[in-house]
Amino acid sequence: MDHFTMRGGVMHAEDVSLAVLADKVGTPFYCYSTATIARHYDVFASAVAGLGNGDPLVAFAVKANPNLSVLATLARAGAGADVVSGGELARALAAGIPASRIVFSGVGKTRPELAMGIEAGILQFNVESEAEIEMLAEVARDKGAAPELAIRVNPAVDPGTHAKISTGGSEAKFGIPIGRAGAAFVQAAGHAHLRPIGLAAHIGSQLTDLSPIADCIGRLGALAGELSGLGHAVTRIDVGGGLGVPYRADQPAPPEPAVYAAMVAQATRGWNQRLMFEPGRMIVGNAGVMVSQVILIKQGAQRTFVVVDAAMNDLLRPSLYGAWHDIRPVRDTEGMMTATVVGPVCETGDTFAEDRDMAAVTAGDLVAFMTAGAYGATMASTYNSRSLVPEVMVNGSDWAIVSARNEPAAMLALDTRAPWL
Ligand code: LLP
Repeated sequence: MDHFTMRGGVMHAEDVSLAVLADKVGTPFYCYSTATIARHYDVFASAVAGLGNGDPLVAFAVKANPNLSVLATLARAGAGADVVSGGELARALAAGIPASRIVFSGVGKTRPELAMGIEAGILQFNVESEAEIEMLAEVARDKGAAPELAIRVNPAVDPGTHAKISTGGSEAKFGIPIGRAGAAFVQAAGHAHLRPIGLAAHIGSQLTDLSPIADCIGRLGALAGELSGLGHAVTRIDVGGGLGVPYRADQPAPPEPAVYAAMVAQATRGWNQRLMFEPGRMIVGNAGVMVSQVILIKQGAQRTFVVVDAAMNDLLRPSLYGAWHDIRPVRDTEGMMTATVVGPVCETGDTFAEDRDMAAVTAGDLVAFMTAGAYGATMASTYNSRSLVPEVMVNGSDWAIVSARNEPAAMLALDTRAPWL
């Protein structure tokens, strides 16, 4: 459920008209709904509330939407954070997410990033290789610290999602292969400056079938059992994120959080570990749209092109993954059209939808790209020297620009002319 609805023929984010926002902010822009973010967090957090030892941690995957106001909204709701870079860690802390609720994941954390996490006093590092265990041990020793860590396991489970967002297969770069993960835990336990306490896994994103996750949780449980047989206590199990969201009305919706939680309850029956979750898309996906204006309609040799003022640099998902985003007029229009929706960037891949049956639009109309709150603005770039797309947040009838458009002059100011030129 989201809070983007038609009122008087105009799409609103909560109580704010997207047409009014387009007027004030210019297009393209992203718009997030506070009520939707808060609701999705609450629905997820309450669904998993009693699981494991009864004190689960819901650590929002910051990569899905790192905007400071989005994170501050989640901080207020009680969320933790799953971060994968020093930049994300800085944002989570700046947004008010306590270090004690922050997990640091990622296959290539640098020494300065490990040091940053230790200095901040984060809850745990999810360590992804034997080499990283050694690096963390060295950094911890230098700092006189003893950080807690979980071994991120590659469970060799195929999540059945798009290849580019699958992370749990045995060929993937993520995690320590399950056959070596127990030994890695023991390796970490051998370091005076490390405290291995957990196991973690994340097998992929936009999952619509829960059985691979159940399978993965079962494998983590078996490994925790083996480790406990060796005298090593595993007190936290992080089952990652990955729950899909509905992008298309004409396709079956992925399981609701309650169904996901029931699966986890079943898979972890009798466990007394603290469970950790890293949902990203599920929290923010439907909480954001990208609004763009139709520049013109162009008749190609074979197709009708709707050329909009947003491009692949603003919303990369369609061109990178062939992802589907519903495209709806912000003001109700009459009739339907079949169109290929493209941006102004000079690449054929700058295509949002091919031969799509959609509500008819014409030059000057505003369109909303739905379900763009996750992996939208954060994956934007300035390709073709286009400005970074701004972000707006709505809260009831209030709204604010929460990330500004960087105008051409500001972008140019980042470059310098080499002294010999
Ligand atoms: N935890 C870890 C360690 C992850 O790598 C990810 C996502 C998540 C949690 C959150 O997964 P979620 O709940 O959002 O599915 N850019 C792609 C998605 C990449 C996901 C990367 N990892 C897209 O636009 O579909």
